[in-house]
Formats: sequence, C-alpha cells, structure tokens
Amino acid sequence: MSRDDLSGLEEILKDLNAAEGLAYLSNQYGSKARFSSALGVEDQIITHFIGKQSLSIEIFTLDTGRLFQESYDLLALTRTRYKVPVKIYYPQTTAVEKLVEEKGPNSFYESVENRKECCFIRKVEPLKRALAGAEIWVTGIRADQSGNRGQMPLLEWDEQHKVIKYNPLLNWTWEESLQFVEQHKVPVNTLHKKGYPSIGCAPCTRAIVPGEDFRAGRWSWESSAKECGLHETKKKVVN
Ligand code: ADX
Ligand code: SF4
Repeated sequence: MSRDDLSGLEEILKDLNAAEGLAYLSNQYGSKARFSSALGVEDQIITHFIGKQSLSIEIFTLDTGRLFQESYDLLALTRTRYKVPVKIYYPQTTAVEKLVEEKGPNSFYESVENRKECCFIRKVEPLKRALAGAEIWVTGIRADQSGNRGQMPLLEWDEQHKVIKYNPLLNWTWEESLQFVEQHKVPVNTLHKKGYPSIGCAPCTRAIVPGEDFRAGRWSWESSAKECGLHETKKKVVN
C-alpha cells in the first residue's frame, strides 16, 4: 500500500455509505483491512456492519489494562452477539512494569508528558503491532467529536503505519449514531446512559454534565488537545 493508492480509493469510497464502504474494503483487502475498536458507540456500529455482513475485516481492540469493567462486559457481549473474533492486543509487560516501578500506578495525573508516556506504552506501541502488515486501518472517528477531529478526512494516508486510514462514520452525528444503535439493537456500553459519551481508560474518563463537550470527560484535568497519540491531526487545506 502506498500514498499513491489514496486518490483511487477516495474516488470509490466517497460515494459509498459506511456499510458499503466496509464491504468493498473487505472484498478488496480481506484481513489486511483492520478495524480498531475502542468499544464506543461508533465502534459498535462498525462491528455491527462487519458482523451482519460477515466481512473479513479483522477487528481488534487495545486492552490497556485500565479499562472499565463495563467495557469488558461489552466486549464479552459483542463476541457472542455477532460471533466475530476480536483480537486483543496488550502492552509489553516489561514496559508497564518499568513505568509503574519508576513512576507509580497513576503517573498520568502528574503531567501531560507522563500521561502521553502511559498512552504510548499502553496504546500507541500495541497499535503498531496490530497494524503490522495491514493495508487499511478502519476507525470509529466522527468529525463532531471535537474541533480537532473536525479537521480529519474520510480517508487519509497514515505515514507512520504505512496504511490508508478510513473513518467511515466521519460525518455521522452523535444523535444519528444513538438512533442507529437503538433501531438495530446494537449492544453498547452501559456507562453511556450514566453520562459517559466518550469512554477510554477508567482513571482517565469521567462523566460529563449537560452542556459540556463530547470529550470533556477524557483527561478532564488537562487543557491539551486530548488525544492519546493514536490519531495525528493533519489540517485540511482550505483553498
Ligand atoms: S482516543 O484516542 O481518544 O482514545 P476514542 O476513544 O475517541 O480515541 O476512539 C477513536 C477511535 O480510535 C476509535 O473508534 C478506535 O478506532 C480507536 N481507538 C481508540 N482507543 C482504542 C482502543 N483502546 N482499542 C482500539 N481502538 C481504539
Ligand atoms: Fe494510561 Fe490514561 Fe492513556 Fe489509559 S488513557 S493509557 S490509563 S494515560
């Protein structure tokens, strides 16, 4: 896969809806198309499309070791509901042991640098292994999740992993997503009803109050761009 393949694929995928786009990629790339599921509402919708159409796109999740119990419950339910394999990637044991020994179990509260170090060990490095040999990386990113994500395109070249990244739900709103899961009985995390629209690791996610931004509960003590390093932003070029 190279950057040159991007425009041809863009031409095809721009006219397909999410379910059709995923089916196309499954036919063309098989398990070299991989979907990273964080078990969010968006991810569950994509898993629904993969499961219902029996697509060969590989589903994987990065288990940081710090997820909510509710997220593990949802993972278990999803595996049985859709009968799809979900590959789980864990951080390197020695890296976690070293981090916790040197900085303790909650170093992420102390500085943005420490927080990014923990995200690197528990998410970014395992993602590299999950995408090794892949050609397509599917994510559940939506543009209206944050200002930062509003800059992200439907399809882009990811230089770091040498894959084409596809965000099939980019233009879905939160309301549309909730309607879809309701209508199609897609299993979702029970925490959503308790004020958690966006869910990551337990120590780094809190509930939001009405009026707060979608991602206000993520790393809520920080005023950074609130990304863990999985998703680099490339600004859209405005003519
Ligand atoms: S995060 O980068 O801030 O944690 P978010 O939870 O909004 O991201 O998820 C956005 C997309 O990133 C998900 O749809 C998924 O594709 C990917 N992602 C984030 N966290 C994980 C994870 N733990 N495992 C697999 N994919 C993930
Ligand atoms: Fe570590 Fe928090 Fe990042 Fe999870 S979200 S990997 S616990 S810093």
